[in-house]
Amino acid sequence: MSAQQILKVFVTRRIPQEGMKILQKAGLCNLSVWDSDEPVPRAELLKGVAGAHGILCLLSDKIDTEVLDAAGPNLKVISTLSVGFDHLAIDEIKKRGIRVGYTPDVLTDATAELTVALLLATARRLPEGVEEVKNGGWSTWKPLWLCGYGLSGSTVGVIGLGRIGLAIARRLKPFGVKRLLYTGRQPKPQAQEVDGEYVPLDTLVSESDFVVVSCSLTPDTQGLCDKTFFSKMKKTSIFINTSRGAVVNQEDLFEALSSGQIAAAGLDVTTPEPLPTAHPLLTLKNCVVLPHIGSATYSTRGVMSELTANNLLAGLTGSEMPSELKM
Ligand code: NDP
Ligand code: DGY
Repeated sequence: MSAQQILKVFVTRRIPQEGMKILQKAGLCNLSVWDSDEPVPRAELLKGVAGAHGILCLLSDKIDTEVLDAAGPNLKVISTLSVGFDHLAIDEIKKRGIRVGYTPDVLTDATAELTVALLLATARRLPEGVEEVKNGGWSTWKPLWLCGYGLSGSTVGVIGLGRIGLAIARRLKPFGVKRLLYTGRQPKPQAQEVDGEYVPLDTLVSESDFVVVSCSLTPDTQGLCDKTFFSKMKKTSIFINTSRGAVVNQEDLFEALSSGQIAAAGLDVTTPEPLPTAHPLLTLKNCVVLPHIGSATYSTRGVMSELTANNLLAGLTGSEMPSELKM
């Protein structure tokens, strides 16, 4: 048996076949797969990674010191089927010289599209409307029934004008958005394309009719959208989050929505995931919650799977990764 054939890889979930085919065809590694659509239990994860040279994981797998210790010194690469990497203990991974692959760009269009869909569904109250048709609440056409808010002439504020934030802005502008505000760590030259105005967070929050969160989850953005944040929003404004649930203080969001401090919220991401069915946010008509489906198109998930597999193989062979996270 050659040295190459004994490379051990643990795959934490059943992934789209595009990626599995690449891994199998490469014939480089001994693949051990948690062959399920459900997350690998923690104990199985710790067992599965023992001695692994590579881990292919998902955003729902917390790769922390315990997992790294369980894997041991062989571990060369972690390849995640996601662009977000807040589930990875980056400092510890870096310290150990382990490389990380992720999936930027390939999911940008799908996620931006979903964000626009969520924004429109929330602002124009689509889930409520569908429900009323089904439950007999639709009695006749009424001038003030199920009215919402439109994008035409509005001010949109994007928190985090990165790859996805910019793609969202590009898609929203043709709806007649009057001003496009954004905030982040520094102004972005590419904002010119959407006539984006770089403003302080407070300005964005208080002047926007739609606040769209598309930043990454970091210690700085954790809990960013809290009571103070919502108290600065207009009563007629809509809050949309497709980044990570932990950017939002959900108790404060519930309060803002139920007290009429803000008009509505659309969330593709929550804490925890799944959100318990008895969660207070799910009792509100003005809160639309989706099950983290931003990148969920067949083709996007297929390409993500391919990229994740190719990142993993490059990490195992010490070659250039198609998408390596710069740490
Ligand atoms: P990028 O790295 O391109 O963009 C992240 C943005 O976050 C950057 O513009 C960055 O600004 C900004 N940011 C970082 N810190 C702050 C801060 N303190 N305040 C404001 N902005 C900040 O990543 P992507 O656009 O590709 O992805 C963004 C996130 O979207 C992912 O990290 C992931 O969590 C989420 N996501 C969710 C999906 C879903 O299914 N709902 C699908 C895909 C991604 P700067 O450049 O100035 O540092
Ligand atoms: C990511 O990639 O970070 C998303 O949350 C899922 O595609």
